[in-house]
Amino acid sequence: MTHRRTIVAGNWKMNLDRAKARDLAAAVAARAAEAGTTELVLCPPAVYVETVAAALGGSSPVALGAQNMHDHSSGAFTGEVAPPMLLDLGCRYVILGHSERRTLFGETDAVVNAKTRAALAAGLTPIVCVGETLEEREGGRTAAVVTTQVQGSLAGLTPTDLEKIVVAYEPVWAIGTGKVATPLQAQEVHALIRGLLGGLASPAVAAKVRIQYGGSVKPDNAADLAVQPDIDGALVGGASLKADDFLGIAKAFGV
Ligand code: PGA
Repeated sequence: MTHRRTIVAGNWKMNLDRAKARDLAAAVAARAAEAGTTELVLCPPAVYVETVAAALGGSSPVALGAQNMHDHSSGAFTGEVAPPMLLDLGCRYVILGHSERRTLFGETDAVVNAKTRAALAAGLTPIVCVGETLEEREGGRTAAVVTTQVQGSLAGLTPTDLEKIVVAYEPVWAIGTGKVATPLQAQEVHALIRGLLGGLASPAVAAKVRIQYGGSVKPDNAADLAVQPDIDGALVGGASLKADDFLGIAKAFGV
């Protein structure tokens, strides 16, 4: 049993329409108690954040998050969304450095680092994603890749800032593929990440940081992941689009 509150976040990616976003959020809100002690976060597309906020209602235990943001707080950045705008709509979390952002939109560790600092400065909690590709895993480079990503993405953060963030370990080969990392494969990398956080701050700070696993998490594999000592929740893509599946996963991480 961990002393960290587990956290399960739904990354809806570029899916749903406004009515479906509202209905899904309402369904999750109505059944939030099923998650037990697990903290729930919904990360809709930015244009539906306000719709989801309204569906959750003012005092909902379900938190809101975004999937990305710019690192500047305003300015001539056509098409971008600024951290204070997300805060304004009620977001508390923001996913940063998701592998789709890294591979499809060229986000480097330096970019993720700038965004992470900006999120913290704005008062948002970043969910910072890291993870190796299949080629990197098969080449025995998982630890090296994850180490570089963690150290680069979190460079220069104070211990106080590090304590606030959430890290998501998402092996790229497990995202949307139906291939989940085995609980031991995931635990091994989670322990590595916690060790790296200890090096960046202190073991006491690292012990407070919640580290989510992501990549084909489903209700039927969540329980085996949840019992691992360094897995503190999940970042869920596909299965977060169904209230039953999302809450089933959250329940597996809760008590
Ligand atoms: P998946 O996506 O659950 O569909 O594998 C996870 C993610 O990309 O965050």
